[in-house]
Amino acid sequence: MREIRVGIIGCGGIAQNAHIPGYQRLENVKVVACCDIVESVAKTAAEKFSIPHYYTDYEKMLKSERLDAVSVCTPNSLHKEPTIMALESGAHVLVEKPIAANAEDGAAMVRAARKAGRILIVGFQERFNPYGMVIRKFVEGGDLGWIYYNRAVYLRRRGVPTWGVFLDRKLQGGGALIDIGVHALDLAMYLQGFKRPVSVLGRAYTLFGKNKEAAEANAWGPWDPEKFEVDDNSFAVVSMEDGSFLVLEASWASHIKSQHIFNVSLRGTQGGAQLDPIEIYADRNGVAVDMTPILYTKPDWREQSYIKIKKFIESIIAEKPLYAPGEEGVVVQSIIDAIYRSTETGRVEPVHIPL
Ligand SMILES: NC(=O)c1ccc[n+]([C@@H]2O[C@H](COP(=O)([O-])OP(=O)(O)OC[C@H]3O[C@@H](n4cnc5c(N)ncnc54)[C@H](O)[C@@H]3O)[C@@H](O)[C@H]2O)c1
Repeated sequence: MREIRVGIIGCGGIAQNAHIPGYQRLENVKVVACCDIVESVAKTAAEKFSIPHYYTDYEKMLKSERLDAVSVCTPNSLHKEPTIMALESGAHVLVEKPIAANAEDGAAMVRAARKAGRILIVGFQERFNPYGMVIRKFVEGGDLGWIYYNRAVYLRRRGVPTWGVFLDRKLQGGGALIDIGVHALDLAMYLQGFKRPVSVLGRAYTLFGKNKEAAEANAWGPWDPEKFEVDDNSFAVVSMEDGSFLVLEASWASHIKSQHIFNVSLRGTQGGAQLDPIEIYADRNGVAVDMTPILYTKPDWREQSYIKIKKFIESIIAEKPLYAPGEEGVVVQSIIDAIYRSTETGRVEPVHIPL
């Protein structure tokens, strides 16, 4: 098999912690170039990972390197342009989550992928959460019946990301909701089989961002309350076309016992399931039972991130997306857009999926 030539756009945290090391674990895959608008970041990444060429302009990189695959790891508002340009250059693209800062941008990226005949995948590594993979099997097997309620939760006690531009509304498109709520929302949507969302009642609050004491108590160092422009707590009820509901909770900071809660629970007419700790609930022979699947792996961010890179490469070989196609990223983003709209209007908002 011919070697797959990979380029990286945006060489910050996620590129260096997940994408580049992930590709470098794979045979017949070579990261041949990386690009960051900040030259020192591109150069340091190239040196650290022995990447032959580095650039500060992705257009130049795409023109010079004949890439088969590109990871787009820039801030959310800067996903669209490099993704489209990479697709048009003939590369397949793995774009970090969320697909873009809004669903319209995401839809433009999907259309570009279709036109170029290239794969576009969104980097949702929670699809490879081993507990979620078990729940998905039970859902597919019909063990839960009709899922009428789905609860997706990603909460942190003091976990505001203080690196990069996560507090900048224009560059990120939002805060806790678009950053971590998106993981819980995508997993919940995937587990219940991507039902079509119809409307949303949501609230995106900034409750801790302007608070100096909360900023000082942050696990990742203090943030600057003056520069905090986004939501830190967001909640929504999403109504689906089949009459079921999804409830979403996302926070970067809240007064809760744990530093980190990531969970999805599903309730169906034949059974229920909870992600963590993994349990399935049902009736057997007239007796209510709890089922605990025996698993030999636990959720592990690094391992799941590696699988997402590996499956992206396998998708290129298989000539079809093997997980999280751009279309699903747009549906998820359409819900997030509607939550932000509902916050502004104070009303239930329809979900527009621009595809
Ligand atoms: N899947 C996950 O769990 C996960 C975790 C963290 C971040 N992310 C996503 O990854 C993306 C980046 O996040 P991060 O934490 O790596 O941020 P970061 O700030 O550490 O890195 C982003 C990099 O992009 C560079 N950049 C900005 N504009 C550019 C341009 N025009 N051309 C080239 N480079 C440019 C910046 O200089 C920076 O080095 C975001 O979309 C974020 O949501 C995903």
